[in-house]
Amino acid sequence: MDSEYYTGKICIVTGANSGIGYAVSEELLKRGAIVYLAGRSREKIDAAAAQLQAYGDRVRTLIMDVTKQEEVQKGIEGTAAETGRLDFLFNNAGVGGTIPFERATLEDWRQIIDVNLWSVIYGVHTAVPIMLAQGSGHIVNTGSIAGIVPPPFQALYSLTKYGVVGMTECLKYEFAEKGLHFSVICPANIATPIFNKGIDGRAYGELRIPEDAYPAEKAASDILDRVAEHKGIIVVPEEPNTRLWQGYVMGTPEIEEVLRQMAHDRREAFEKGGTYF
Ligand SMILES: NC(=O)c1ccc[n+]([C@@H]2O[C@H](COP(=O)([O-])OP(=O)(O)OC[C@H]3O[C@@H](n4cnc5c(N)ncnc54)[C@H](OP(=O)(O)O)[C@@H]3O)[C@@H](O)[C@H]2O)c1
Repeated sequence: MDSEYYTGKICIVTGANSGIGYAVSEELLKRGAIVYLAGRSREKIDAAAAQLQAYGDRVRTLIMDVTKQEEVQKGIEGTAAETGRLDFLFNNAGVGGTIPFERATLEDWRQIIDVNLWSVIYGVHTAVPIMLAQGSGHIVNTGSIAGIVPPPFQALYSLTKYGVVGMTECLKYEFAEKGLHFSVICPANIATPIFNKGIDGRAYGELRIPEDAYPAEKAASDILDRVAEHKGIIVVPEEPNTRLWQGYVMGTPEIEEVLRQMAHDRREAFEKGGTYF
């Protein structure tokens, strides 16, 4: 791994005020990068920046709602204009979506696609021309384990994350000879506030962080190690989730059974109004 991969580099991280985005931002700063913390709330992003004040003027802020194309474009182009370049874009902002299919409205589908998929399209659409012009750059999109293995009761979320994984992998090959790199992070359960939020303010089952969730700080360190190795699909934590993914792709009876059992358990939990983990 290149230990200088992030030193002095200009990075934008969306959803930087919370969870994985905050942890990745802090880890980038520890590794010497200049980090634009991007978020939709001035108050939240300033609070995150204040916690990182030890890193001085390498901590910068950007206000952008990732569902608004003009705001994403302005934030990314403004950063490149201010600094003269853009080395990394982490399209991390996102929302969860574990919900029984019958209870999801079309508005739920639209909202999750806006936040998890259009945001990434807007980011990539703006950043690629900048990176092509400078002949280098690395775009890191956040997918999910639900973008490579389909968890029952996550059809809305999984739709968006399979889209992010597919797009990122296509672009990785398409731009390989142009000096651009693409990675897609596929986290399993990472301990962040995402588990406490529900869908559009509505709770399905008991909202709580799973007991076995992986710490966000460790996830961030693993992610940046793998990104520096130019890995495409980055599964975090790597095991047992890589085995799960491979077993699903191979259609192994064990993994089929795991998914069927998960569906059974989650349906029962939802019917009782309890937890689905
Ligand atoms: N934690 C996990 O187990 C897990 C697993 C797989 C994938 N992921 C993915 O990892 C990414 C980060 O999630 P997390 O777990 O760190 O959750 P989190 O702590 O809830 O962070 C989500 C971030 O996205 C931001 N965001 C949401 N909607 C936005 C919008 N319209 N414009 C700008 N920012 C917006 C949030 O900002 P506000 O605070 O303003 O809402 C927050 O900063 C997501 O893409 C998620 O799908 C997480």
